Amino acid sequence: MSNNTLTITDNRTGKQYEVPIENNAIKAIDLRQIKASEDDVGLMTYDPAFMNTASCKSRISFIDGDKGILEYRGYPIDQLAEQSSYLEVAYLLLYGELPTESQLKDWTYNITYHTFINESIKKVMDGFHYDAHPMGMFISTLGALSTFYPDAKKIHDAECRQKQIYRLIAKVPTLGAFAYRHRIGMQYAYPDNDLSYESNFLNMMFKTTELKYEANPVLERALSVLFILHADHEQNCSASAMRGIGSAETDPFNALAGAAAALYGPLHGGANEMVLRMLKEIGSKDNVPGYIKRVKAGEFRLMGFGHRVYKNYDPRARIIKKVADEVFEVTGKDPLLDIAVELERIALEDEYFVKRKLYPNVDFYSGIIYQAMRFPVDMFPVLFAIPRTSGWLAQWVEMLEDKEQKIARPRQIYLGHRTRDYVPMEKRKFSDVAGAKA
Ligand code: CMC
Repeated sequence: MSNNTLTITDNRTGKQYEVPIENNAIKAIDLRQIKASEDDVGLMTYDPAFMNTASCKSRISFIDGDKGILEYRGYPIDQLAEQSSYLEVAYLLLYGELPTESQLKDWTYNITYHTFINESIKKVMDGFHYDAHPMGMFISTLGALSTFYPDAKKIHDAECRQKQIYRLIAKVPTLGAFAYRHRIGMQYAYPDNDLSYESNFLNMMFKTTELKYEANPVLERALSVLFILHADHEQNCSASAMRGIGSAETDPFNALAGAAAALYGPLHGGANEMVLRMLKEIGSKDNVPGYIKRVKAGEFRLMGFGHRVYKNYDPRARIIKKVADEVFEVTGKDPLLDIAVELERIALEDEYFVKRKLYPNVDFYSGIIYQAMRFPVDMFPVLFAIPRTSGWLAQWVEMLEDKEQKIARPRQIYLGHRTRDYVPMEKRKFSDVAGAKA
């Protein structure tokens, strides 16, 4: 008997089964052979929220949640944040290796020359209410963009796929910035191909009357670091959405819109916006202990704290704290930082947080930096989605090229009624089900 197996005894039948263990996992489908009777469909695993189920094999991001380690393609996140640029990291995520000088030049060129969006997208933008949330506009216009690129449906054509990758990474900053400009009622600022990816984004966001926008190099670099930190994070909710939607062979524009919608939720990429709102609500350091008390009483969660995988300090949060100091030297310190630091200090000493291994995550400090850089709070989820686009696309390509993948289709444990006869209206009785009114 091989050591790399698991022996299971089904106490219902007394039968024994041996299933292989590969990469420290068993295949759920191997349990299907375990049946209590002839007509039994076979044993399933039940795992709401995928607490202990690997949905794919991946070579993109590695996380050791207990040690607080994050690596992209084997490179530690702190080394990338220190030495790389966002576009270089996007290349790494997608193609598995750091680019050579000429590869990076071509890659940057191709991204730069796809930044413009069809003028009709502006009309879609114009259709939104003046105070529409930019993330809603971002998600909708991503879906709308698919209508301009019907060729994107050819998802098994590697060359065509490559083109959509250029388009998407190039156009997401334009969509995000245009959503913001619509929101504040300013004319759209077009992409400037002389500028870097980050600088061009700042240009489209903040350009007013100057002939040529020039970003502050410290802020440009800070944005690049923040983009690197947000680029990928293995099988999180939005990456799983990207893979799940993409598994139906949906084009990448619509799959990405779905991933961005998942990211928008306050428990995921929407948390950065909620952190800022929370810090404003707390208002001063003195109110921190009272706020923590309410969190512990279960009134609400401490936003920017906790993580499904990290049971230690999120390594991204550590790097962001350093970036904050550099940004504040340029912009001046945001008083909300003091509240955040106090909140972190008290929470990390408190038994409630210690016991549950709740530490600051990437969203805890990022919002304070974005605010110092003049980004409005409701742009924060968009600022997460722009760099995560490269990660979503890397996950999507990996899924498409994985021969073991098929359309995602979980099973269920059905606990509802079985076959019963239709009840005519006059015979129905008021029943006490959710939503029923007498
Ligand atoms: N504040 C207070 N209590 C918390 C928090 C929090 N932020 N997070 C978890 N807990 C408690 C939770 O109540 C539970 O306690 P108990 O065992 O007594 O019921 C315990 O910790 C475990 O929580 P969980 O909900 O089972 O953990 P999860 O892995 O399902 O949730 C999470 C992970 C990130 C959704 C959650 O920690 C959370 O809601 N955090 C706040 C939102 C946030 O900051 N999200 C950004 C995540 S990082 C960016 C990204 O990648 O999206």
